Amino acid sequence: MSQISAQNVSFVYQSKYQQVQALTDVTCDFEEGKFYAIVGQSGSGKTTLLSMLAGLGAPTQGEVLVDGVPVTAADSEKHRRDNVSVIYQSFNLFPALNLLENVMYPMFLHGVPEKEAKPRAKELLDAVGLSEVDVRKLPSMLSGGQQQRVAIARALASEARVLLADEPTGNLDSENGQLIIDLLHRLVREKQYCVIVVTHDLNIAAGADIVYRMRDGRLTREASA
Ligand SMILES: Nc1ncnc2c1ncn2[C@@H]1O[C@H](COP(=O)(O)OP(=O)(O)O)[C@@H](O)[C@H]1O
Ligand SMILES: [Mg+2]
Repeated sequence: MSQISAQNVSFVYQSKYQQVQALTDVTCDFEEGKFYAIVGQSGSGKTTLLSMLAGLGAPTQGEVLVDGVPVTAADSEKHRRDNVSVIYQSFNLFPALNLLENVMYPMFLHGVPEKEAKPRAKELLDAVGLSEVDVRKLPSMLSGGQQQRVAIARALASEARVLLADEPTGNLDSENGQLIIDLLHRLVREKQYCVIVVTHDLNIAAGADIVYRMRDGRLTREASA
């Protein structure tokens, strides 16, 4: 079964003085229980594609579907809240919230009472290997690798089954980068998440189940090894 897909998606950035065709007729499918890598040069359209899948902006043409059902403008907010979580290169934690509050945040959006959200957030922080870290710390007190783990714990706190990660190891050294990638692989294997990672790192791509390559806004699937 196909979890999330793009069907003939094109996207044009339109400003007053110029148009940039960032995606051209992109069609792709992402299933649960699989790890995907999207590779391609800077400016080729990778982030734009993730944004479309994440419901951050609507395609100029074509559509994004979840379980075969198109995401319309009216469901886009619900899509962002319920179906997908985004992990960024720069972590994007809430700087003024402590670690526990960062992870509890998606649960608040879902109306989970604090009494349940708190222990669940602690569990998730333990699960990403942060059991030793004081949950009352602010994100800025952590290393990059630790911050990215918090970001993953926060992603897991939502109901979303699709994790979209835009160069999640781009700001990490190779050892911490590998820990993050191992963690994402474990979520695919053990919990059947659908993980889609944009990366420049050929090692990460080599470990993926399926690799897509973006070139000038067009996406092709690489032959599997
Ligand atoms: N907000 C924007 N306004 C105009 N053009 C943009 C904007 N964001 C990205 N672009 C352009 O769209 C193309 C694809 O960008 P992007 O999706 O960020 O590529 P990648 O993530 O592969 O580096 C590039 O030509 C880029 O300059
Ligand atoms: Mg990018």
